[in-house]
Amino acid sequence: MKVRFLGTAAGGGAPQWNCGCRVCEHARREGVSRTQDGLAVSGDGASWYLVNASPDLRTQLLATPEIRPPPGTRDTPIRGVLFTSAELDHTLGLLGLRETTALDVYATASVHDALKTAFPIEAALGGYTRVREHRVRDGEPFDLDGGLRVTTVVLSGKRPRYAAALPAGEWVSAYRFETSGGVFVYAPGLSTWHTELVTGADVVVLDGTFLTEDELGPDRPASGMGHLAIREVLPLLGAHPGPRYVFTHLNNTNPLVLPGAPELAELAEVNASVAADGHLLEI
Ligand code: MLT
Ligand code: MN
Ligand code: ZN
Repeated sequence: MKVRFLGTAAGGGAPQWNCGCRVCEHARREGVSRTQDGLAVSGDGASWYLVNASPDLRTQLLATPEIRPPPGTRDTPIRGVLFTSAELDHTLGLLGLRETTALDVYATASVHDALKTAFPIEAALGGYTRVREHRVRDGEPFDLDGGLRVTTVVLSGKRPRYAAALPAGEWVSAYRFETSGGVFVYAPGLSTWHTELVTGADVVVLDGTFLTEDELGPDRPASGMGHLAIREVLPLLGAHPGPRYVFTHLNNTNPLVLPGAPELAELAEVNASVAADGHLLEI
């Protein structure tokens, strides 16, 4: 299995256009850039699936050699898109795929409903290309091209702010990808610890939005925004050795945005690191 990180920042990216915090300023000065969270995964290196479609998707696709069209064709190795949430940073790029002839879209019923009503980009996409909707369910495995078996793990009912009027449901998920070569887990929005995510996995990608619970100040705790802070998770990783752990979806306030951050040493102690845009994992 191959996994290419397309983007590794939370909503807004890093640096964020309207932010002059210490990390954004440093990133601007040094030319450090993280685009918004998403990745591409393939079981055989030929058929690829996007997980999330960020507003930065076009730039991300152009930077990814594996998903170029075969020369002389107007074709794509991208077979479909899976969503871990309906948040804007995970979905705004969907319309950027409208030039394809068909697209399979995998998400929970709640996420599909949001993308057809409160924020109807999936409905709009249907005017440009053939959209096949797949409703994924917690714990029910499904198969994708290239020998990928996928299991959805529903994590929370945290709705996007634009969807506040929609019913409670399965709003935030992780995916567990399995081939004969190994198990890869992608959980960029984790609000509480789920041991079943890490059991038997080779690589687990976790929510790295915030390093600390009070990173945005005492009035805006990370947990109140549906994100388990990295420093709360590190002891749990120590108690669950085995997988390699990687943090992604970094908010621009997180000092780990910057390469060489001293806090990386705390992660290394529990076999954890921070993802970078363009980074390739082979599992
Ligand atoms: C989140 O990850 O909590 C959301 O994407 C926040 C946002 O709207 O950017
Ligand atoms: Mn987000
Ligand atoms: Zn900032």
